[in-house]
Amino acid sequence: MTENSVIILAADNAILSKRLKLEAVLPLSQLDQSNAIFEQTAQGLKLHLMLDSEIQQLMFDLVQGEVASRAIKASKSNETIAKAIGCKPHFRPRLLDATAGMGRDAFIMAALGCQVVMQERNLAIFLLLQDALARFNQSSLATSLKFPIELLFQDFFPRQQAVHKFDLIYLDPMFPERKKSALVKKEMRLFKRLVGDDDDADELLLKSLASGVKRVVVKRPKGAPCLADKKPSHEIKAKKFRYDVYLNELGSIGLK
Ligand SMILES: C[S@@+](CC[C@H](N)C(=O)[O-])C[C@H]1O[C@@H](n2cnc3c(N)ncnc32)[C@H](O)[C@@H]1O
Repeated sequence: MTENSVIILAADNAILSKRLKLEAVLPLSQLDQSNAIFEQTAQGLKLHLMLDSEIQQLMFDLVQGEVASRAIKASKSNETIAKAIGCKPHFRPRLLDATAGMGRDAFIMAALGCQVVMQERNLAIFLLLQDALARFNQSSLATSLKFPIELLFQDFFPRQQAVHKFDLIYLDPMFPERKKSALVKKEMRLFKRLVGDDDDADELLLKSLASGVKRVVVKRPKGAPCLADKKPSHEIKAKKFRYDVYLNELGSIGLK
């Protein structure tokens, strides 16, 4: 991709997942409801797309803003996620964040000292996150991380041989549709427009458990049913959501 080039991706999951579509190049003036156009700017990679007949931009950032300031002071006592993933005074899990999205949770877990591999299957989201991660890696913040964050572009099919190097799998599939959608932040609505609903989230939990990994943590909205109706070993409550924690010590819970 060259500086200031624009690349079109139809804003549709099936098409987005085909890397070859990246080859089509269109000017921004041809943006419409059926597509989304990337633009490489001096600040970073931007995705232009329409929402409610208006042109909007989506760009991820891990260097400034709320997540960055949380990361700087992240500790076991001020981040609920630390408890959910089982951080101990001398233990930080090596983890696979199988639903990377904007990379925010992964970033906080990395700031807590965990070794983090992120996976993302949506090409547009992956490219935006890859760009944010590259900008983060060039910033002074990156030196404060114990381990570099790794990002993979792939759909997640956990298999035993692939997960042996992880202590846990972290899952945060798209939350179910909220009724008051006008109240949902614009960034989240744009994100949802690209990603849709993660309809296979139940399967993702079952396969994660079947992989034999020792711990699976699922972030769920407050009041939402458990994925696959599977009761967790315990749950950790946060203000707007909860973490369902599945302890899988014998590697025996999972697909039957
Ligand atoms: C709600 S977002 C995750 C947000 C993320 N936890 C954060 O803090 O920014 C869910 C993301 O998971 C991705 N996803 C869902 N299922 C996946 C799978 N099986 N493999 C890879 N990515 C997946 C979706 O494309 C979406 O970008």
